[in-house]
Amino acid sequence: MIGNLKLQLIAMDGPVAVGKSSVGRLLARSLGFSFFDTGFMYRAFTWKVLRVGISPDDVSALSQLANKTRFDFVPCQEGYLSVIIDGEDVSSDILCPEVEGKVSLIARVAGVRQVMVTQQRRLAEQGKLIMAGRDIGTVVLPWAELKIFLVASVEERANRRYRELLEREEKVDYNITLADLEKRDDNDSHRVISPLKPADDAIIIDTENLSLKQVVDRIYDLVVGLNG
Ligand code: DC
Repeated sequence: MIGNLKLQLIAMDGPVAVGKSSVGRLLARSLGFSFFDTGFMYRAFTWKVLRVGISPDDVSALSQLANKTRFDFVPCQEGYLSVIIDGEDVSSDILCPEVEGKVSLIARVAGVRQVMVTQQRRLAEQGKLIMAGRDIGTVVLPWAELKIFLVASVEERANRRYRELLEREEKVDYNITLADLEKRDDNDSHRVISPLKPADDAIIIDTENLSLKQVVDRIYDLVVGLNG
């Protein structure tokens, strides 16, 4: 761990399955920071939308529901933060296909994003935090001292996701995984509000041929450099 670290916030953005969570968790551990993946909030909220039964097209009802929703951030393992929605822990439900299929539609609603951004900034007030997502460097925390944007080809990301699903012993088809990622990339990059893109001052790291450790080490070195 680096002593007397001045830096308080690291924004980490990038496309689906690029490794933000794996990198963020390891980095948080070595820096003594917390890690929060904002995708978790969009997924938890989508879970609630499905349960309440609101259509993803009903923008006004979605915004009202977001405004009435309570999010609490709770530490899990080794600095990894989870989110509790209206007092309920839904972490085991948010990777299901129903949530997966709707989340990017819900995430494009301005009123929903406004609520998420306010809550995410509230969390960031604690400092010593790595926050991952799509718009952290551009919209949520443009004042973060270090902004990282991870990239890798869609084929490489599909490979990583495919292997991860196999390890979890889930039924999986590489071509379906690839098509799903391409669709998610398209939704995330082409939406009108807060599309996926690097902040002007973000450091872009191409992870295509790097191991997880190499990516973490590279960011760690950047932190050390900023601290000096
Ligand atoms: O990172 P993820 O796959 O868990 O994200 C789920 C969805 O939420 C994805 O469609 C992108 C969206 N999202 C977003 O729009 N902004 C964020 N800061 C994080 C996630």
